[in-house]
Amino acid sequence: MIVPATQANIEKAAAILRKGGIVAFPTETVYGLGADATNPKAALRIFALKKRPAFDPLIVHAETAAAARRLWSVDSPLARKLAGLFWPGPLTIVLPKSKHVPDVVTAGLDTVAVRVPSHPVARRLIRAAGVPIAAPSANLFGRTSPTTARAVEEDLGHGVDMILDAGPCPVGVESTVVRPEGRRLVILRPGGVTREALAKAAPAALARGRAAKGKALRSPGLLTSHYAPRTPLHLASGTAAALAASLALRRARALRAGRAWPRIGLLSFRPLRTASGTFAAERSLTRRGDAREAAAVLFQHLRELDRMELDFLVAERLPAKGLGLAVLDRLERASAGTPGLNRLLQR
Ligand code: TXA
Ligand code: MG
Repeated sequence: MIVPATQANIEKAAAILRKGGIVAFPTETVYGLGADATNPKAALRIFALKKRPAFDPLIVHAETAAAARRLWSVDSPLARKLAGLFWPGPLTIVLPKSKHVPDVVTAGLDTVAVRVPSHPVARRLIRAAGVPIAAPSANLFGRTSPTTARAVEEDLGHGVDMILDAGPCPVGVESTVVRPEGRRLVILRPGGVTREALAKAAPAALARGRAAKGKALRSPGLLTSHYAPRTPLHLASGTAAALAASLALRRARALRAGRAWPRIGLLSFRPLRTASGTFAAERSLTRRGDAREAAAVLFQHLRELDRMELDFLVAERLPAKGLGLAVLDRLERASAGTPGLNRLLQR
């Protein structure tokens, strides 16, 4: 099922795509679950495989900016500028769709999200297939995105026709999704291209909060609860050090009272010293507080912690700048709906 991304296997994968099959492939952000974007039946299979609701549109991956423009019905000067600055790369642009894009791909919306990936395997696959490729992240709906071929297999191994393996994805979080509105940009999802970098091209504002309030969803995929491990995840309000100190005290109290202490996993931004016994497992996202490093390992660490049968996980916030904004966004969504710390400790 998992095969190395050699040129021969990429060509086999392209043939599978042309026949309406489904191929998982690496991009610079996360692994994608690809189908021929011009084939409505193939695109439908993606929704079924991922158990993705039909209202959540797919991103179409094109080989070049010129191929991307054919998928839109408008010529946006701002989109051209963004393409020049950030393509190929982790930026997805949403604009009114052309007739070349089937309705199932966009979940019935009159707009389509398009990006030109920079990963060499993704690029060679799109070129060999000769068609744009519709691809969401290759995970079950609502779960953490896969950054390795093994993670794809865990979630979807039964249903995909081939998984192309090219090692871990370098960026580690999904693309930034933007919508040009006149001369401004609405950031529908923070991701691999930072808000600071976008702001050099145009004024850019985050569209967050709208989905949470249940108002008209600007980006249907931006459900509040998303990217979640199976183990409940609590996002600490203060630093991990403060949380660790308070949990160590509570553990001492619990043990004195003869109560069991839960198995807790800690996901900190940087490494820290904790009293032994407080946490059953600890992972830190970076050694030196580098948000880029944190993004690259975020989903891998979450998946590892998720496999350890812990009672719950606690994660530390990181500064909402650079790639930290995307990491924080994923942690916020992954922890949405988790009961408070006191409730978690009482269970
Ligand atoms: O990095 C990425 O973007 C990865 C790789 C595989 O390219 N793909 C990815 O796809 O993350 P997915 O399906 O997991 O997330 C796509 C996001 C969703 O939040 C979806 O709602 C939004 O893009 N989206 C897609 N089409 C849209 C549209 N027409 N209007 C607004 N949002 C759209
Ligand atoms: Mg996804």
